[in-house]
Amino acid sequence: MIKKIDHVAIVVEDIERALGVFREALGLQVSQTQSLPEQGVTIAFLPVGESEIELLEPLGPDSGVARFLATRGEGLHHICLEVEDIDAALAELKGKGLRLINETAVAGAHGRVAFIHPKSTHGVMVELLERPGSR
Ligand code: CO
Repeated sequence: MIKKIDHVAIVVEDIERALGVFREALGLQVSQTQSLPEQGVTIAFLPVGESEIELLEPLGPDSGVARFLATRGEGLHHICLEVEDIDAALAELKGKGLRLINETAVAGAHGRVAFIHPKSTHGVMVELLERPGSR
């Protein structure tokens, strides 16, 4: 069901400042930056081999990412697992009793995504992603 770790997402206070570490010090390249107002975040993707690091910066004080930053500070926000068929994956996980944040997939930056509640995955939120054309 799972193909690979697609990306690991880190919440930061300021993407430009964080790029001082991830781009300048670690030497990673930015493949994409994007504001997603409906999700309340600005994102930057930095490819690392077959996976990526995603930096998340809240756009305003009302998003889930802003609340995460306010209560937990900067740090690991979620890991994203690429799946072939997200609808089948969600049905299977729901059947196994996992708590889903998204019962059905929603549009994400790279395809259809859904989040699993961290209470069901030992404290780390898990994002599932189905990339276009994967089935
Ligand atoms: Co993500």
